[in-house]
Formats: sequence, C-alpha cells, structure tokens
Amino acid sequence: MPSTRSSSRMRVPTRNWVMSDFPAMSSASRHAYLQALGIQQWVQRDADRTDAGTVETEKFPVRPISWETLEAAVSVCTKCELHTSRTQTVFGTGNRQADWMIIGEAPGADEDRQGEPFVGRAGLLLNEMLLAAGYARDEVYIANILKCRPPSNRDPSADEMTCCEPWLQQQIALIQPKLILAVGRIAAHGLLQTTTPVGRLRGRVHRYGDEEIPLIVTYHPAYLLRNPEKKREVWEDMKMLMQAMGMPLPDNQKRRT
Ligand code: URA
Repeated sequence: MPSTRSSSRMRVPTRNWVMSDFPAMSSASRHAYLQALGIQQWVQRDADRTDAGTVETEKFPVRPISWETLEAAVSVCTKCELHTSRTQTVFGTGNRQADWMIIGEAPGADEDRQGEPFVGRAGLLLNEMLLAAGYARDEVYIANILKCRPPSNRDPSADEMTCCEPWLQQQIALIQPKLILAVGRIAAHGLLQTTTPVGRLRGRVHRYGDEEIPLIVTYHPAYLLRNPEKKREVWEDMKMLMQAMGMPLPDNQKRRT
C-alpha cells in the first residue's frame, strides 16, 4: 500500500471536468467532491443502483484524497435519504495522526446537533474507557460507520451503510491506523461483514481490509449504560488493546507469574 502520510493530493485538471478525471474515486465521492467544489454535473438518475434496487459496493482503491477534500465532500453528501433529516454531517474527530482509531455506529441526537461523534452520554463513557486505558480522547481518531443520524436512532439500513462506506474507507486510508476498535454490533458487523454476536467477536484480534489492520471488538458504550455489569468485559478488551499497542498495563492488572 502506498504511504498515505505523505501528501497524495489529487491534481486538479484545468479543462472541462468529466468523471474520468477522478479515476481513483468512486462515483459517489466524485459526485460529492464536485458538488463540494460547486461544480454541477449531469448524471443518469439512479445510475449507481442495480436493477434489484440495491446500491453497488464500489470499493475505493486506497489512494486517499486530502482530509480537506474528503470533509468537504462528506458535508454535502446526498447519497442516501439521511441527508434530508440530518442537521449536519458528523465527520469524525481527534488526532489525524493517531496510532489507532475508534469506529462507532452513527450519530445520535447530540452528535447531529453538535457535529461531533460521541458527545452524548455514551461519549462521556467512551472518554472514561479511554482514560482508563491511558488515552485522552484527542489522542485517538473517532469516527462512525454512518456520517448522518438515522431518524429516531434506528439501526442503519444496509443501503445507508453501503453508501457511507467509502467515506470511512478514506478516513482509514488517511490515518493508516495500527489498530481499529469497533464499538458495538453495527460497527463490528459492518467492518467484519459478519452477523456473529458481539459477545462472540470479543476477546480476539480480527483483521480489517486488504491491509489486514488488527481490529478489536467491544461493547458499545450505550449498551454499557444499559448493562453496567459488562464493564468488566470492556476493561478486558481495553487491556487487550493496550497490549496490542504496547501500552503498559496498570501494575495491579499485570498477570502474576
Ligand atoms: N453512538 C455512536 O455509535 N456514535 C456516536 O457518535 C454517538 C453514539
């Protein structure tokens, strides 16, 4: 995989813009990118839908666009119906040079209002989980599977997840994390393409994508708020993460030999 820490900005063509000017981008992001730049383009209605009505999964070749371009494109995304009910998109937050990243489900009401992931009650608990593991919130990068809030906090639909996937893939490609922590069922299932319950995905290191990025699954902090007895298991997951990241465990948590 090419190094993406160095700048890999796209060269902007000066002649008329056609879709083939953006060979490294999916049609979804090309469209949003041009929209972000205020450039109108004509596309066949429903051009990227199959006859069966499902959205085709077009994987990003991992050649990232810049953070600025990506954020601008996400902010005007209209790929799924969620754009009609959102207050704003919730892009992601934290350290863009982070060693590891957290991926959650989707913005809730607080996040939709504030434009930042994990700022509600679940977010406060996530911050505590991070502090317990020796990390400040702004040391890691935090993003969601979906960038827009599903109405009434319902589960994201498969189509919505497919539409949003390229944005997250770009974020991952830009960060090149050494590890991903998937919090909750939706994130774990979306990233690992499985339906195995979270309880059975915990406790081992999975691999994500072609780069086989190590991925650990844990319970969602919102689930922890409802099931505080699961905090002990989450602490086990955080210790596994700390070990994977080479972080020292608190003295009283080290295994006795
Ligand atoms: N739950 C999530 O999964 N993400 C958020 O940003 C907020 C709540």
